[in-house]
Amino acid sequence: MMVPLESQPADAIERLLDAAFGLGRHGRTAYLIRDAMPWLPALSFAMLDEDGELIGSLQSWPVALTRADGTQLPLIMVGPVAVDPAHQSGGHGRAMMDAVIAAARAQATEPLMMIGDPEYYGRFWGFSAEGTGGWAAPGPFEPRRLLALSVDGRPVDGMGMLGPRIAWPA
Ligand SMILES: CC(C)(COP(=O)(O)OP(=O)(O)OC[C@H]1O[C@@H](n2cnc3c(N)ncnc32)[C@H](O)[C@@H]1OP(=O)(O)O)[C@@H](O)C(=O)NCCC(=O)NCCS
Repeated sequence: MMVPLESQPADAIERLLDAAFGLGRHGRTAYLIRDAMPWLPALSFAMLDEDGELIGSLQSWPVALTRADGTQLPLIMVGPVAVDPAHQSGGHGRAMMDAVIAAARAQATEPLMMIGDPEYYGRFWGFSAEGTGGWAAPGPFEPRRLLALSVDGRPVDGMGMLGPRIAWPA
């Protein structure tokens, strides 16, 4: 059963992420891109088993591409997408991804981006590295795994540095 992630205790989410990604996960470039941002409740989901135990989670974050002139292209970073190892390949990852894309389209959000396997995220949802060739990140990444997906049909591209989305004082 899928529920909003905000219904789940923070420590259960952290335990699931450790199980899916290992304890070294915090040093990953994806963590640096969204550093210190809070995840977005309306675009974050949990999967529960029959006993109500947390077996899957998907978080989304406000990030941005900062261009050389200082302007920002707001983006939504999707991930980690995590399914408990004992429950993988049961369609839970796909169901949570379907949900976030449907919610993003319904809310006409900023474009989605992620670091992930194109063999999974391209195959099922059309995420692509085509427009991300000009994007830099605060840590190492494989260019073919830096993926974007427009939710309104407008192409996603540009040049700049990925990082947390900062609301500058007016
Ligand atoms: C990757 C992950 C989210 C997929 O969720 P899941 O519930 O296990 O998988 P689903 O049931 O939704 O999808 C299964 C299908 O996707 C494919 N698939 C799963 N992970 C894949 C990957 N990394 N690359 C390519 N294909 C993949 C499976 O082969 C399967 O295809 P099939 O139906 O043709 O057999 C999950 O396995 C996971 O948490 N893995 C550990 C963390 C991780 O490596 N995440 C990478 C994403 S950043």
